Amino acid sequence: MSKHGSGASASFTQRQLRDAFGEFATGVTVVTAVRPDGEPVGITANSFSSVSLEPPLLLWCLSNHSSTIAAFAPGAAFAVHVLSHEQRDLAVHFARRSHEKFEVDHHWRANPHPPHLEGALCRFDCRVHALHAAGDHLVVFGEVLALARTHGKPLAFYGGHFGTYSADRGLPKIDVWDGANDGWF
Ligand SMILES: Cc1cc2nc3c(=O)[nH]c(=O)nc-3n(C[C@H](O)[C@H](O)[C@H](O)COP(=O)(O)O)c2cc1C
Repeated sequence: MSKHGSGASASFTQRQLRDAFGEFATGVTVVTAVRPDGEPVGITANSFSSVSLEPPLLLWCLSNHSSTIAAFAPGAAFAVHVLSHEQRDLAVHFARRSHEKFEVDHHWRANPHPPHLEGALCRFDCRVHALHAAGDHLVVFGEVLALARTHGKPLAFYGGHFGTYSADRGLPKIDVWDGANDGWF
């Protein structure tokens, strides 16, 4: 690949693209699943997005190089954990390239599969709805079958750093899914 990325006419370097993508502040998730050989897997991911209410769909993007990729076949079960600010160590743990992420004590339950991590702000139990190959990543669409919530501060990620979030006061709470609303302000 050239220093300008895969597109011959790209006007930016891959470093500039990485830094630009990093300008989008996100939450942080850990996605867990089970490989066909029965081994539980987990990966830290901030590429999560909501997609659809009806049917309930979400997506995230998985690197083609991930050791977890065999776990995300069509129809496979997986769980997306939206991390709280107290769970930064989990985010770091599941960002390591390792086959033994569940051999340390992280309060996971082996039953039911896939592993459930305690203390997440939200957990979406999903089944793979569709897979879309996209460059060096695989877009994983999940149908949400169940969810569970607790309360706390979110773990945020911006510009390569973990942090948290505080709300600006003074504007009404916004429901971005309110299709009947023809303008919030
Ligand atoms: C904050 C953060 C967000 C990440 N988001 C993603 C992501 O969305 N998709 C992905 O494939 N890797 C992402 N990664 C990298 C993976 O977590 C890491 O490469 C992976 O866990 C390596 O181990 P594996 O080969 O067992 O998957 C992220 C890492 C961090 C620290």
